[in-house]
Amino acid sequence: MREIKIFDTTLRDGEQAPGYSMDLHEKLEVARQLERLRVDVIEAGFAVASPGDLASVRQIARAVKETRVCSLARALPGDIDAAYEGVRDAVAPRIHIFLAASPIHMQYKLRMTPENVLEQTAAMVAYAKKYCDDVQFSAEDATRSDWDFLVRVYEAAIGAGALTINLPDTVGYAYPNEMQELTAYVMARTKGIEKVTLSVHCHDDLGLATSNSLAGVLGGATQVECTVNGIGERAGNASLEEIVMALHTRRSYFQARCRVETQQIYRTSRLLQSVSGVPVPPNKAVVGANAFAHESGIHQHGVMAERTTYEIMTPASVGLPQNKMVLGKHSGRHAFEERLRALGFDLASQDMQRAFERFKVLADKKKFIQDADLEALVESREDTLPGMLALESFVINAGSVIDGTAIIKLRMGDKVVQRVAMGDGPVDASFKAINEIVGEEFSLESYQLGAVTEGGDAMGECVLRLSLRGRSVSGRGVSTDVIEATIKSYIHAINKLMA
Ligand code: KIV
Ligand code: ZN
Repeated sequence: MREIKIFDTTLRDGEQAPGYSMDLHEKLEVARQLERLRVDVIEAGFAVASPGDLASVRQIARAVKETRVCSLARALPGDIDAAYEGVRDAVAPRIHIFLAASPIHMQYKLRMTPENVLEQTAAMVAYAKKYCDDVQFSAEDATRSDWDFLVRVYEAAIGAGALTINLPDTVGYAYPNEMQELTAYVMARTKGIEKVTLSVHCHDDLGLATSNSLAGVLGGATQVECTVNGIGERAGNASLEEIVMALHTRRSYFQARCRVETQQIYRTSRLLQSVSGVPVPPNKAVVGANAFAHESGIHQHGVMAERTTYEIMTPASVGLPQNKMVLGKHSGRHAFEERLRALGFDLASQDMQRAFERFKVLADKKKFIQDADLEALVESREDTLPGMLALESFVINAGSVIDGTAIIKLRMGDKVVQRVAMGDGPVDASFKAINEIVGEEFSLESYQLGAVTEGGDAMGECVLRLSLRGRSVSGRGVSTDVIEATIKSYIHAINKLMA
């Protein structure tokens, strides 16, 4: 069995995609969850991009204790300096340098000759080596590069000390057979390759990112770069959950395994959906709402008779909550904490206290509290810090023959402010009242409302995206009342925009 390293770039290649920008607090939350998921490397960002990016790479490097933390850098001294500044305090730091090797990129983007690219590769890897032993080199647009030139570039990088060589399919152009052949070619022809790790990094422009990454593994790669939910530039990157579960489910075919804790997959996917405000489609492999739902009678019958007739992996293996009716009004704090721990939550005592308070409020409204309710409750992160906006109360009047009216009372520090507004339905009226209180016109970019579990008393979950003066953030709220969930998610987003 070969060990395949999982290099997660959700916080770099994923975060740079439109609609996925995260603030520092959210990035830290995702990084901690990636550590629980036991990926091998967290690419925390592109430190030179802005002071904010450098600060978040640095904070992640300090917070993460058991996972390698990496920053991306172009093959330029200033970028490498910034990358090192970002990761220097990590327990295991890595600098990841990239330089394009395809004729198109060399001619039109870099305006460099192939000889210049070879020299720059060797010089910049050697430059990074002064800071950090663990240097990774990527030949951008590798799959559209001349194969023999690619080998020379990799030899230059290995000669200068790179310990990982990455083969990106930057524009999602490769076909699986070709990817396998190219990986095998690089493995066979590159001098010194046996001393380093060969990695693949695939994009999904033709929907082939997972297949191409796995083809790379068959060709000899032992590191795969991917993102949670497959987020990333354009059509996205190879999806972490698909790669991990393919390796897990077809272990003997690939003769390979990885150390990822598969039971943390669902939680990680949910966390990313909730911080980004972007849901995954219901039919998304592994983590979509329908990934384990058997609708047709023939399938249901088959699964009831023998699960493996139509199920190649179990929902439990990816950590899907089993929706047991576990807690209720009379459950005490001990039972609550035990259940959260069993679900894999490890909360600091203050967060546990707040979650318990929210649980008690919920238990008054909902008879049976399921695992999915508990997850939504903990993940809702509606807690407000002193000085932030908080919902005090609301009254709604709406119907098919009247305009919606909302009376909203918000707490802002010591002050409580109330406004009344009319709108096109209760949601519009509530948002207008809140806008008046805050004195800003926010634009609503997206809005989704769903139920956390089945049944009429299910908790509603609202996830939306708001923007103000070019900044866009997500907000999330849960409640047994969908209007309350909506108002909470709006306030959650405003607090982020105002922070
Ligand atoms: O897609 C790509 O080529 C990249 C590199 C920077 C590795 O993201
Ligand atoms: Zn990429």
